[in-house]
Amino acid sequence: MEKSLEASRFRLGACYYPEQWPEEMWEEDLKRMKKMNFSIIRIAEFAWSVFEPREGEYRFELFDKVLDLAHQYGIEVILGTPTATPPAWLTAKYPEVLNVSQQRVSYQHGQRRHYNYNSPVYRELSAKITRKMAEHYKNHPAVVGWQIDNELNCEINVFYSEADHKAFREWLQKKYGNLERLNEAWGAVFWNQTYSDWEQVHLTRPTVSDSPNPHQALDEKRFISYSAISFAQLQADILRIAAPRHWVTTNGIFGHLDSHSLTESCLDFISYDSYPNFSTIYPDKGEEPLLDRKWSLNLSVARDISPNFCVMEQQSGPGGWVNKMEMPSPKPGQMRLWTYQSIAHGADMILFFRWRTAVFGTEIYWHGINDYHNEPNRRVMEAAGIGRELAEVGDRIVGTRYQADIAIIRDYDNEWDGELDKWHGQMQGKSVSAWFKALQYHHIPADVIYLRDQADCSHLNKYKVLVYPHPAILFDATAQVLKDYVRRGGTVIFGCRSGYKNKDGHCLRMRMPGYAAELCGITVEDFTLIGPNEQAPTVIMTAQAGTRELKGEAFNDILRVESAAAEVLAVYQDTYYAGKPALVRNKYGEGTAYYFGAAFELTAAASLIEELGIVSPIEGHMELPKPVELSIRKHPGTGESFIFLLNYSGHEQTVRFNTEFIDLLKNCKLHGDVKMEPYGVYVIQ
Ligand code: GLA
Repeated sequence: MEKSLEASRFRLGACYYPEQWPEEMWEEDLKRMKKMNFSIIRIAEFAWSVFEPREGEYRFELFDKVLDLAHQYGIEVILGTPTATPPAWLTAKYPEVLNVSQQRVSYQHGQRRHYNYNSPVYRELSAKITRKMAEHYKNHPAVVGWQIDNELNCEINVFYSEADHKAFREWLQKKYGNLERLNEAWGAVFWNQTYSDWEQVHLTRPTVSDSPNPHQALDEKRFISYSAISFAQLQADILRIAAPRHWVTTNGIFGHLDSHSLTESCLDFISYDSYPNFSTIYPDKGEEPLLDRKWSLNLSVARDISPNFCVMEQQSGPGGWVNKMEMPSPKPGQMRLWTYQSIAHGADMILFFRWRTAVFGTEIYWHGINDYHNEPNRRVMEAAGIGRELAEVGDRIVGTRYQADIAIIRDYDNEWDGELDKWHGQMQGKSVSAWFKALQYHHIPADVIYLRDQADCSHLNKYKVLVYPHPAILFDATAQVLKDYVRRGGTVIFGCRSGYKNKDGHCLRMRMPGYAAELCGITVEDFTLIGPNEQAPTVIMTAQAGTRELKGEAFNDILRVESAAAEVLAVYQDTYYAGKPALVRNKYGEGTAYYFGAAFELTAAASLIEELGIVSPIEGHMELPKPVELSIRKHPGTGESFIFLLNYSGHEQTVRFNTEFIDLLKNCKLHGDVKMEPYGVYVIQ
C-alpha cells in the first residue's frame, strides 16, 4: 500500500519547544504564528523528564496548557514521543540502556540518542511513556499526529551494547537456522573464523587493522536497520491502538536504516528534515558542485518512500552547535528558495526548525526564525512572506505529484556493503552525484528509486531510462526484472563493477557482470582500480553528435563484446588496454542496455544524456540558465500541472519564456526575456 501524506490543505508551521521558554511567552508565540499563516507545530520530542520527572510519576500540565492555547489559536499539533533523550533518572538507574561503542565505551548522559534499541528495559519504559502520552492526548482537539522518536540513527548509527550482541545472535539464529549456514554465509573458513557455539558470535568487535569480516559487517547493518524498525514498531503499535484518530510519522532518512521498510510497516508517511546549508560545510565533490541544490537528491529519496511527504524541519537560519558545524546565515531569499525546493519535490506540509533560537544548550547557534531577543528580524519577515504566499497557492498544489521519465536506482544492500568496501563503495556516491548533477544541469527532472528484494517490474515501466550505477550485489531475480523492463522497450545504464557479488557479499564464480552479462551483451575481460597515485585514462566516445573525450574515473572494467547486437561506443586511451571497449550499447528485446566500464563523472553522464536524446520537458517553451532547477508537479486526477523554477544563484538570471506564463506567487506575467531575482522562485501553472 502506498504510504503518502494525504492532505486536503497545505500546512506550514514550526518546531516549538515551550519547555525551554517562560510560560508568559507561549500565548504571544502562538498568536504570532497564527498571524504568519502557520497552522501546525511539532512539540515535545525531547521532553521526557517534563512528562515523567521521576519513574512512574506522570505530569501533563505544561503541555496541556500549550495544547489548549494552540487549539485556541487554531494551530494543530504533532506530538513527538520523547524517546530520543532518555531522562537522567533512567540512564542512572538502568545503565544497560546506554549505547556502547565498538571499543566498549558507554555513551553517557549529556547529548542525545545515547540509548540502544534492544535493551528490554528501554523498550519497556519507551512503550510506557508512549502509551501514557497517547492515552492522555488521544482526544485533544489540537492533536493531529505523532512523530516517533526523533531522527532514528542520526548522530550515531552503530550499536554495541550487550543487548545488541544478544539480539544480533537471535536475529542470526532466525536468519540462518544453524551455525553451518552462518559460517558459510560469513565465509568463516577464511582465516579460521569458524564458529562452533552461538556464544562465540558477536557484532563486529575491534579487529587488527580495523578490518572486520565483510559479510558479518553487512549482516550487522541489516540487523541495525531491523532493530531501529522494531523499536519504532513498538511505539507505532501503541499509538495505533491508543490514539487511532491520529497519523504516525517519523523524521529523517539516515544510515543503516531501510526507511522504505520502516515506513511500510510503521508509518502513514515519511517526514524529512531539510538542511540545505550543510552544503557550505560539506560541499559535494567534483566539478560544478550542486551545493544546496543537492538537497533535491535527498528530497527525491523521501519522495520514493512517500510521493507526498512532510518536511518536519526546514532550515530557517544559520546552523551550528557550540563545538561543531560552522554555517553562514541563509542569504535573503534562500529560506524561501529552500522551502519551495521541498514543495517542488513533493512536500505538502513544512515546519521550520525552529520557532526561536535556544538561549542555552548545545544548539545556541542553531538559529530558528526568531532571534534570542524575539524582536522582528529578517527571517521572521521572510517566513511571514512565505506564509502569505502559501495561504494563497498552497492548497492548489497539495496532492500533485512530481513528474519524471528517468530514475536513478539505488538499493540498501549495495549502500551498506559499499561502506566498508574500498573497491566499490567510493564509486556509488560519486556516480549518483554526477548523474544527478548532469540531469539537473540539463533541466531533466529525475526520480531516485530503491530496488528492493521484492522488486517487480510494474513501478519501473513508467520510466524511459533507468541508471543503476554500480550494483556490485545483483541478484538473479533483480537482473530478470531489469531484463523484462528492457525487453519491453526500456533503457538501462550500468557503470563498472556491476553484478559480481551475491546477497552475502561473496564474489560470484561467474564472468562479470554476472547475471547482467546477457542483458548488457558483454563480459569483463580484465579490470583495474585506478590507484591513488595513478591518472584515470581518457575514454574516447564516438557519439552521434561527434567525438567526445571522457574520463575513465576510479575503476576500469575492460569490456569484451559477447553479443551480435552489441556495439562499442567508446574505447580507452593511453593505457595498456588502449583501444579496448569502455562503453558498450546492447539492443535487447525492444530496449537497450548500456555498460560503462568506469565510474561516471559529469561529462560521462552528460554525454550519455545527449546520446540517448533525452531532453527537458519544457524544451521549446522556455530556456533556462544552468543555476535554475526545474520541477513539475501534476495532479493525478485533473492533470493540472505546476512548474517550479528555482534560482540557486546569488545573481540575477535571465529566463526566456517562448510562451506566456503566469507566476502564481507574484501574480505576474512571464514572457520573453525575464530577469529572475537572486534565489528567486516562480511557480507557474
Ligand atoms: C536535527 C534534529 C533537531 C535539531 C536540528 C539542528 O535535524 O532533529 O532536533 O537538532 O537537527 O541541529
